[in-house]
Amino acid sequence: MVRKKISLIGAGNVGASLAQFLALKELGDVYLFDVVDGVPEGKALDILEGNPHWGADVKVRGFTTADPSAYKNLENSDVIVITAGLARKPGMSRDDLLNKNVEIMASIAKNVKKYSPGSKVVVVSNPADVMAYAFQKVSGVKPERIMGLGGSLDSARFRTFLAEELSVSVEDVNAFVIGGHGDDMVPFIRYSNVAGIPITSLLSKEKIEEIVKRTRFGGGEIVNFLKTGSAYYAPGISITAMVESIIKDKKRVIPCAAYLAGSHAKHYGADGIYIGLPIKIGENGVEQIYDMDFNPDEKALWVKTVESVKSSCQKVDDFLKTSN
Ligand code: 2OP
Repeated sequence: MVRKKISLIGAGNVGASLAQFLALKELGDVYLFDVVDGVPEGKALDILEGNPHWGADVKVRGFTTADPSAYKNLENSDVIVITAGLARKPGMSRDDLLNKNVEIMASIAKNVKKYSPGSKVVVVSNPADVMAYAFQKVSGVKPERIMGLGGSLDSARFRTFLAEELSVSVEDVNAFVIGGHGDDMVPFIRYSNVAGIPITSLLSKEKIEEIVKRTRFGGGEIVNFLKTGSAYYAPGISITAMVESIIKDKKRVIPCAAYLAGSHAKHYGADGIYIGLPIKIGENGVEQIYDMDFNPDEKALWVKTVESVKSSCQKVDDFLKTSN
């Protein structure tokens, strides 16, 4: 069997943690790319040298993209994960990163288009839904092959907080978060349960509201502790789950940012944007989008998150128009 190839563009904290998780799980050979000279090579070698203890037989290689011809090493990647870009500092929203990160994303997208346009792509750089949109516009990669990180991480946080509050195994908590990966994301209370028992029958309304709020600001909570950057262990694991589902064609249903078109666009009242939805992830990328019904309160939250993603996508369009 030919080993899979997973390329990670960005070897900062998220990219490097992800590289190690992917290597330890032997999901494929891992190629790390970063613009900072020596960093991808050094981190790749460091990760590689730990592999004997895990019996992990995969290559881990690093390439500095200060010379853009290094992007040639992206060729024939099965999956590409893009984490490159600025991360938040305390007091910043994910949207504050938009202009700088869209510029970085556009240059990466051109190289993916040139060297590996058939890959599945996971966009992580923030604001992730909007960066997925920018990446698709510039790369021309088929929209359904592109996913943005959001719900996978936000749901893991939601499940963690619920499990801690109820003193039950995280494994038995099913909960998910949809919408944009921003402060108005939508933790979906009505469909959240512990081994099938609705959380509304286990926790008070006030407690649930408190957990929902903590989930929405879960990324910010970590930024405030770290002060110099944002979360990376939970993001790394959350991306690993998505990549594993692609590589092994597991067809897991994980909420992630996916492209809305056709009947789904009609159902969700948003067309041509990426936004967090429950999706089936397999070897072809986004293999199915599930249409969920909303009650009036949920609908109001949904409309709000759609509006904020849409207005950021408009900024991307304006940026791309002026930069062409
Ligand atoms: C977070 O929520 C990195 O956006 C990511 O922590």
